[in-house]
Amino acid sequence: MELKTTKGFHHITMVASHAPTTLAFYQGLLGLPLVKKTVNFDDAGAYHLYFGDTVGSPGSILTFFEWPGIRPGGFGVGGIHHLALGVKTPEGLLMWKRRLMDAGTRVSGPFDRGYFRSIYFRDPDGQVLEIATNGPGYAFDEPVTSLGTRMIQPDSFRMPEGRDEGEIQGTTHESPVPRITDEMSIDGIHHISGITDDLGAAGAFYEEALGLRLVKQTLNQDDGTTKHFFWASYDGEKVEPNSSLTLFEWPGSTHRTRPGTGQTHHIAFRAETEDEQLSWRDHLLEMGVQVSPVMDRKYFKSIYFQAPDGLTLEIATTGPGFHVDEEPGSLGRKLQLPEWMERDRDRIEAGLAPLDIPSDKGNSRLEPVENAIDGD
Ligand SMILES: [Fe+2]
Ligand SMILES: [Fe+2]
Repeated sequence: MELKTTKGFHHITMVASHAPTTLAFYQGLLGLPLVKKTVNFDDAGAYHLYFGDTVGSPGSILTFFEWPGIRPGGFGVGGIHHLALGVKTPEGLLMWKRRLMDAGTRVSGPFDRGYFRSIYFRDPDGQVLEIATNGPGYAFDEPVTSLGTRMIQPDSFRMPEGRDEGEIQGTTHESPVPRITDEMSIDGIHHISGITDDLGAAGAFYEEALGLRLVKQTLNQDDGTTKHFFWASYDGEKVEPNSSLTLFEWPGSTHRTRPGTGQTHHIAFRAETEDEQLSWRDHLLEMGVQVSPVMDRKYFKSIYFQAPDGLTLEIATTGPGFHVDEEPGSLGRKLQLPEWMERDRDRIEAGLAPLDIPSDKGNSRLEPVENAIDGD
């Protein structure tokens, strides 16, 4: 089978300390439906929660391992700096800012990054999140047919010394946003931004291993000494949505990411079919990359490998999908267990904290976030 470029992300998996709090934040406040409530297949005492669009489409899925009691994770080489979710309009973005701030979440922005406008905040465990507008897009400052072919210096007014931070912080939606409107609807994973010590090696890997292409070479708009490069599924005319992986470069840094709560565990790209996944696996082995066997995750099949800087990657199949054990209209309602755990269902359920579906108004458990946020 001739390999194509991956169409983009399948899911991102993060680490949470308390599943009910994670549910309140992602479903209650961000409005992302829980599409699957299950346990870690290697540890029935811990939830594995999946959020996404209403049907759990690839590219929309955020999953969480609940690992209570482990130490918080940290940024560094081989890890993810932040996850960005897409929204259609700048007004929708401002409505998110207002809704999040009214719920006690600290928000920075909106920043005009050129390619999109962005706000930043953290989830209750400290995972840095961004909401970014889908437009104007990467053709903002170079032709769509030659994205990523030259180094682009950001406009000075986008950099910290050129911005009016007071005006930015004062910009929000004029009235409270108790309900999530159509204008605010989240279009899945807009981009994922990681940290590498070697952009050249990382880029060559993503290009060869997954067929991603460089679509932007620029600087971090929050720190002009840091390079910031973007890759995506790009055919020379169009950039696929839900496919942008961006990397900040910390050259020669020995400051590695620390796994833990508030950090990303791994990111998954997608294969359209099981045959395509096997072709990716053969291709990776030919590259000399160590790859896991195909693992059956019930809702998709997975292979795992690592980028040169140590980031754990996965390729997951689009099917069979989240409706294999629940009706499309009632995803995420009941605890789902793999067959070999079913005989222990009563004991497993008794050991898990109840997960109540929160109201649309957010949740009083949410703590304000005090940590500084940077990075575009
Ligand atoms: Fe995964
Ligand atoms: Fe970003």
